[in-house]
Amino acid sequence: MANGRVLIALVIFTLLNTNIDAKVYTRCQLTRELLKNGFSKTFMSNWVCLIEQESLRNTSALVEKNARRKYYGLFQIGSEWCKEGRKGGKCDIACEALLDEDIRDDGACAQKVQEMEGFKYWPKWVSRCKGQVLPDVQKCPDWQNPPSRASPPRNKRFLRIKRLAVSRPRMAKRSLHTKYRLQ
Ligand SMILES: *[C@@H]1O[C@H](CO)[C@@H](O)[C@H](O)[C@H]1NC(C)=O
Repeated sequence: MANGRVLIALVIFTLLNTNIDAKVYTRCQLTRELLKNGFSKTFMSNWVCLIEQESLRNTSALVEKNARRKYYGLFQIGSEWCKEGRKGGKCDIACEALLDEDIRDDGACAQKVQEMEGFKYWPKWVSRCKGQVLPDVQKCPDWQNPPSRASPPRNKRFLRIKRLAVSRPRMAKRSLHTKYRLQ
């Protein structure tokens, strides 16, 4: 009985810890993660510079300008792009999801910000990266042979299967089967 309780406490502690733990990447680890998440090589040194200036490569960075304006995570994405406590905002994401170690959703949101606003959305990119010497990420060991793409965030995978179900039902069924077999 006591053992069981210790075990449960341990599991809870581990779960909490993995959620709270900030991951601080090295420059090359960060480059690797961005490559894995579909960031193109063309603007890699800009993204790395931006992240170094905005969050010091800390996945849990949280900056509160005031009660209504907060900036979340590695990319310091502003609160208009997410919603506290539940999915929402222009990236349709919970702000808290931008603070964990899983940067797949952060990356997708940051790319959306960049598409809609450009790099100039990030004040520190403007003041510290634009037109300046950028980090030399080509020296990183993963540059020549980037790791394979990370699978997209789970909800997106489901959406794709759902969309497939409308257009090609038989294929969607197969794809769902594979999904469950793998788990
Ligand atoms: C990362 O950011 C979090 C939240 O601001 C902070 O508590 C933590 O100390 C930072 N980690 C490092 C190594 O700077």
